[in-house]
Amino acid sequence: MKRERWSSRTLFLFAAVASAAGLGNAWRFPYVTAKYGGGAFLVAYIIVLILFGKPILDIELALGQRMQKAAIGSFQEINAKLGGIGFAAILCGFIVVSYYVVVMAWCGLYTIYSFTLKWGTDTKGFFFNQVLHISKTPFNVGSINLVILVALILGWLCIYFSVRKGVKSVEGVVKITMPLPVILLVALLVRGVTLPGAMDGIIYYLKPDFNSLLNWKVWSEAIGQVFFSLSLAFGIMITYSSYLDIRGDIIENSTIIAISDCLIAVLAGFVVFSTLGYMSLQSGVGISELSTSGPGLAFVVFPKVLSLMPKFSQFFAVLFFVMLLTLAIDSAFSLAEAVIGVVNDRFPNVKKGRIVLGVCTVGFLCGIIFTTQSGLYYLDIVDHFVTNYSLILVGLLETLAVGWIYGADRLRQYINTVSRWEVGVWWDYLVKYIIPLCLVLLLISNFKTDLMVPYEGYPSIFIFLFGWLPVILVFGVILLFFLCGREKIGISNFNGYC
Ligand code: PHE
Repeated sequence: MKRERWSSRTLFLFAAVASAAGLGNAWRFPYVTAKYGGGAFLVAYIIVLILFGKPILDIELALGQRMQKAAIGSFQEINAKLGGIGFAAILCGFIVVSYYVVVMAWCGLYTIYSFTLKWGTDTKGFFFNQVLHISKTPFNVGSINLVILVALILGWLCIYFSVRKGVKSVEGVVKITMPLPVILLVALLVRGVTLPGAMDGIIYYLKPDFNSLLNWKVWSEAIGQVFFSLSLAFGIMITYSSYLDIRGDIIENSTIIAISDCLIAVLAGFVVFSTLGYMSLQSGVGISELSTSGPGLAFVVFPKVLSLMPKFSQFFAVLFFVMLLTLAIDSAFSLAEAVIGVVNDRFPNVKKGRIVLGVCTVGFLCGIIFTTQSGLYYLDIVDHFVTNYSLILVGLLETLAVGWIYGADRLRQYINTVSRWEVGVWWDYLVKYIIPLCLVLLLISNFKTDLMVPYEGYPSIFIFLFGWLPVILVFGVILLFFLCGREKIGISNFNGYC
């Protein structure tokens, strides 16, 4: 069967940037930056982006394009025993998408609430009690929250329709959902920087605390953020680039994706902090207190700021939540597409529509647990463990597989054959030694922290069920493939390339 193709390179780039730019840019990046040294964190982030993010992105784009397969198939092409790395990647993706769509559902609900500023003055009480109906402890699962469940169904329907016809329908959607949030961000920026107090917020955001660069935590946060933000180690970039022609320019593509993702994050930071500066002036609460509220930033602090806007509050509230929603949707369906791509490779004769329906249904069913009254606790635990362990582990194995088994120099030669700008031998050293070494250190340090103090003080049974168990599962599939995969698949079908 002929492989699907993007109808133009621009649309591929739109889809890839749209996958990368998501809630991680608009909401996670700003508060992590402020928390870990402002401008200095930005420096760490950019260094990590260049030294880690970009080379791993090169690897993923090169693998997909070279092997013309989704995640599992691409690694199996290197060696059948390595298919587990691809499997683990899409498993991580599946776990993430199951809760990511729940957050997207909250964004959808808040878009509707924005028309009347339904959250009133007690935005915290509104979010936790009226929207989530949160239970006191993770032990009280409570009932399923029907409103969120309906929003979740709608979210999955959107995903279903976005990927139903594969690349063709994805292209139609990203034409809108890639530029729209950027335009909305710019509109919000114009509003933000013209508010009184905005400058204080921006100074707080960017004022560098260079001492923080001596702190390992800052670097480990930067690595985690780069991975999550570039959608690395989920098999997405491998899948998307497998729909490109084998001669596509990899270095140019990865550079455009990495720079755009970074710019969108920095832009979102300006929006968030200029607005928080205004809020701080109005409410007398310090910017640091406002910005370190973590996940609450989007659903507790921002609704409050939006209500405080001198004019057109509803209008800007709608803009803000539509921006979040449109940022989130293409990230969400890219995750689904990575899973679909793999199933499609494996069962080429099954109709794509059926695969899409199956994946969306299972994803929806897995997400229901996060719509319960204790869903937020579970979501928090899963998110922490997947991003701090599973992703890093998959990233580590990806670089090892390419660096040591396929051969970093061999992949680099292919990259250089098809790209206008060439990468030098330094790339091999990064892929073979530096990145794996740092990722191992990161895994060890995360492990040490989590063993010493239970994450956020959650009861150990939940840490095990929602935290370690998925990590063990991811590790298990890698091992299983490694032990059971016997047949070696040669790379014979693309003569002319290394
Ligand atoms: N990159 C997305 C973001 O920044 C998150 C994401 C991760 C999306 C993994 C898809 C896959 O929000």
